[in-house]
Amino acid sequence: MRRMSRVVKVDPQAPESREIERAAKILRDGGLVAFRTETVYGLGAHALDPQAVRRIFAAKERPDWDPLIVHVRDLAMAHPLMKRLSPQFELLASRCWPGPLTLVVEKADHVPDAVTARRPTVALRMPWHPVAAALLEAAGLPIAAPSANRFGRPSPTCAEHVVEDLADRVDLILDAGPTPLGVESTVLDLTQSPPAILRPGGVSREELEKVLGEVQLASAVTDEVARNGLMAPGMTAKHYAPRATVELFENAMQLQARADELRGRGQRIGFLAVTDNIDRLAQTLFGQFRSQDGQGVDVILCVLPPPTGLGFAVRDRL
Ligand code: TXA
Ligand code: MG
Repeated sequence: MRRMSRVVKVDPQAPESREIERAAKILRDGGLVAFRTETVYGLGAHALDPQAVRRIFAAKERPDWDPLIVHVRDLAMAHPLMKRLSPQFELLASRCWPGPLTLVVEKADHVPDAVTARRPTVALRMPWHPVAAALLEAAGLPIAAPSANRFGRPSPTCAEHVVEDLADRVDLILDAGPTPLGVESTVLDLTQSPPAILRPGGVSREELEKVLGEVQLASAVTDEVARNGLMAPGMTAKHYAPRATVELFENAMQLQARADELRGRGQRIGFLAVTDNIDRLAQTLFGQFRSQDGQGVDVILCVLPPPTGLGFAVRDRL
């Protein structure tokens, strides 16, 4: 029999304790729960139970070399997962947690290889969102949670996206409405010196530099895309894979010229809503990818936001 996951609605600000308790029990028993965080929906499992963690990889069809983020309720939950404390960790945790910042640190021996993909490091994040916080509190254990999408799909920013990608592969989906931020957390590697941004996200490089001084961009975050713009107009996005081709432009005039050209060739075109409001663009970005794909457009055109603050993270996703 095909098993359908249960979707229950919870209040995003004050999630009902009955539903949270039920979800926490599923996690303690080794099951999978999708839940809202401030960034995107996460697919959670008991982080210290290798079998539960392997179910995440299976559900997402995620390659086993790609490590997971471990979510913690508080510092008391984080500390035992780490080999040692560092002043940088403590400083960032006190200034930026809870929030959309993930810190990569040396792991304690008992953190399973399944979570860290056999690396000596673990990625830790303390979310502020009430649903995530309540679930961590009730479960009383660290929760490994990647974004709750199938591998290669845009991250889910509402429960419907999770159903689309994982319907029968997750035991419970806590539907608390659309996520406020819309892009994932910033991943910062504290084992490098200076600390390196592995993935731009909800906490900006500028904010991190205010706390730490110098912060570098990992080489994978290419300077061309993240800072200066494009290698050439019409570069194709690779990371998150909408089925349509995505073409990026520095300004609306370039985009317009390209749109005319494509229409002339009979191509179906979609536009990513161009807005001066970067928060709104971030919130709706992944949802727009999904809905444009649903409409079967050939090419999605978008004007890039400026490369500062959250714009930096949005450019990276584009
Ligand atoms: O906002 C978020 O971070 C969301 C919510 C659910 O918290 N989670 C999320 O997880 O985006 P995921 O698995 O989709 O992305 C985690 C990223 C991956 O790029 C992974 O390679 C990296 O973090 N990562 C995890 N552990 C790492 C480690 N030990 N060293 C380096 N990178 C790591
Ligand atoms: Mg992901």
